[in-house]
Amino acid sequence: MSMNGAVDQRRDHSPANAAVVPAEAPRVRLNPSMEHKPDNYDDLPLEFCPVLFSCLERYLLPSMLTAPRDTKVDHMREILLSYSPEAERIKKLSYLTPAFFLQPLHKELYGMHATNFFVSSFLKAIHENTEESFRSIMSEPVPGIFVFEMLQPEFCRLLLEEVEHFEKWVHDKGFIIMHPNLMSKYGVVLDDFGLETMLDKLMCDFVRPISKVFFSDVGGSTLDSHHGFVVEYGIDKDVNLGFHVDDAEVTLNICLGKQFSGGELFFRGVRITINGPSRYIKQFNVSVNQRDEEIFDYSQVPGQAILHHGRHRHGARATTDGNRINLVLWCRSSVFRELKKYQKDFPSWCGECKREKKARQQISISATKQELLKDGEPLT
Ligand SMILES: [Fe+2]
Repeated sequence: MSMNGAVDQRRDHSPANAAVVPAEAPRVRLNPSMEHKPDNYDDLPLEFCPVLFSCLERYLLPSMLTAPRDTKVDHMREILLSYSPEAERIKKLSYLTPAFFLQPLHKELYGMHATNFFVSSFLKAIHENTEESFRSIMSEPVPGIFVFEMLQPEFCRLLLEEVEHFEKWVHDKGFIIMHPNLMSKYGVVLDDFGLETMLDKLMCDFVRPISKVFFSDVGGSTLDSHHGFVVEYGIDKDVNLGFHVDDAEVTLNICLGKQFSGGELFFRGVRITINGPSRYIKQFNVSVNQRDEEIFDYSQVPGQAILHHGRHRHGARATTDGNRINLVLWCRSSVFRELKKYQKDFPSWCGECKREKKARQQISISATKQELLKDGEPLT
C-alpha cells in the first residue's frame, strides 16, 4: 500500500491472480472519500452500469476527483476493464471499440427523451396503451402492417448527423465498418456506437406495448432483444433491396430522410415461419405466388414508421435520386424462439403455403387425369 492511502494494485503478480489484479491497473484509494459527491453517468453510452461509475468515483485518487467528467469516465473504464477476466476484457474491447473511444456528437440521443424524440400523437397512444388508442394513430393498409407518425424531424436530423459522425470517425481511423446485415452494404449498426441502451428502451417501452396487441402470435409481448441499425440507399450506395424476410419477430422501420426519389417498400404477405438469418426469398419474382389482397406498396415519408411481422415478405425499390436513410429495429423474442424449438408439430410452412401447395396438387392431379382420359378408357 502506498503512503497516501491508495492501493498499489501491482502487489500480487502470481499467475492465479493475474486476471484479477493486473500489473498495469490504475491506482485507487483504499477507503472511499465519503465527502465527495460523485457525478451522474446515466446519460452516457457505457459498457458498465452507470451506478458503478458513480460508486467507483469515490475511490479515485484526490487528483482525479476534480477532473472533468469525461476524463474520469475514461480513467474508470480503464480500471474496470483491468479487473475483468482476460477473455471478457478482449470481448469488451473488440465488441465495444467504437463506443469505447468515440465521443458522441449529440449526447442527448443516448438516453430516452421521449418528448423530444416522438410526436405527441404517438406519445399519447403509448400512454393510453390500448388497442383503440393505437389504432387511432395508425392505418393498417393490409393485415399485419401498421403505418403511423412517430419521430420528430429534429430527432431525425440529429440521428442523421450522429451517423455521419460515426462514419467520418471510422473513415478517419481507417477502420472497416461492420455491415448492418447480410443484405445491406451501406449503413451502421447503432448498437455498436453506444445507442444500444436507448434502442432497448425504444423496444421495451414503445414497440413492445404495440406488439403485445398486434403481434402476440409471434412473441410480441415478450420482445427482449434487438438489432438496431441504419441503412443507406442512393445511386452511390445500395440502390434497392431484394425480396426477403427479416431475422426478427417484429420489425420497426422508420425513414429518417433525406431528400430522395423512389425507394418504395413493397410487401407480399407472410409465408415462411422458420427462424434464422435474414434472407432473400428463393422465388425472386414477387408477382408469382402472391394474392391480390396481400399486395402493398408504400412510399416512404421521413418520420413515419412502418411496423410489421419480421417474416412479412418485403423489399425496397430503387432509390433513383438523392439519399434515403432508414432506422431499422429488428425486435426478437427469446421466449418465442425457444418455444418453437419444442413444438414438435410446428409446421415449416404457414397455412397459406399449405393451401397453395394443396391447390397445385389438385391442378396436377386433374391434368394427369385429363391426359389419361385422352389415351384410354374413362377412369372409374
Ligand atoms: Fe427487411
